[in-house]
Amino acid sequence: MNRKCWIVLLAAIGSVFFLVQMGGRATAQEDSYELAHKDVFGKLQRPAVAFPHGLHMDALECGDCHHEYDEAKGALVPVDDPDAGCAECHGARKEGSRPGLREAYHKSCIGCHRKMAKQGKDTGPRTCGECHKK
Ligand code: HEC
Ligand code: HEC
Ligand code: HEC
Ligand code: HEC
Repeated sequence: MNRKCWIVLLAAIGSVFFLVQMGGRATAQEDSYELAHKDVFGKLQRPAVAFPHGLHMDALECGDCHHEYDEAKGALVPVDDPDAGCAECHGARKEGSRPGLREAYHKSCIGCHRKMAKQGKDTGPRTCGECHKK
């Protein structure tokens, strides 16, 4: 094979790897969630919450929302390559300094939207009915 053929062949192999990786990423997390954790809350008092995860992934860093507890540091650290949702660690009730799932979501979602709104940035909803839509 001459030089040109090699380049074409390598480019083809490269794009196959790229597509396989992208495919892996796309299936690893949903573009949009319908948050309704009946498994944790039991019967829901409010309508389910639409969460456009993809939009947030584009606008923010994964570690702005995903974290884990680092025993050695004794503090929460951002996770840049998350594979767990929030309910893996946050249950129905608070445990020590770990908030229950409802408070974890509210503190995270509403906290960030409020903070960004104060800074005059484009952000998401802050009132009950805008998130818990009938
Ligand atoms: C920024 C979006 C947002 C706002 C604003 C918000 N919530 Fe939520 N809330 C959530 C999310 C997300 C959950 C988790 C839903 C789930 O997984 O079932 C949740 C869970 C809950 C739950 C527990 C699940 C259930 O339905 O029983 C209650 C109760 C609740 N919210 C009430 C409220 C009330 C009252 C307000 C206004 C004071 C409010 N929320 C504002 C996002 C929001
Ligand atoms: C604005 C906050 C936010 C950002 C930014 C964010 N995520 Fe998430 N992500 C969430 C929430 C909330 C859930 C949980 C949905 C649930 O509890 O059911 C989630 C769920 C996931 C899950 C699914 C876990 C499971 O149990 O199936 C993966 C994987 C994930 N995120 C990866 C990422 C990656 C990778 C990035 C960065 C490119 C990212 N997330 C950015 C909030 C965020
Ligand atoms: C691997 C376990 C784990 C996962 C997954 C996890 N958390 Fe936490 N989270 C913790 C622990 C532990 C604490 C208590 C830390 C402490 O004691 O200071 C905490 C504390 C919090 C707090 C209160 C402290 C603060 O930063 O304001 C919020 C809010 C919170 N988590 C939201 C979330 C959200 C939203 C998700 C999903 C995107 C999530 N957590 C996923 C373990 C986890
Ligand atoms: C760390 C900051 C941050 C957190 C945490 C966060 N958001 Fe947002 N949210 C944003 C930003 C920034 C936008 C605007 C993105 C854009 O328009 O590009 C947004 C927009 C939205 C929108 C409006 C989407 C639209 O079509 O206009 C909804 C709905 C929303 N967020 C829901 C949630 C829910 C539910 C949670 C918690 C599970 C959450 N957000 C957590 C920063 C955050």
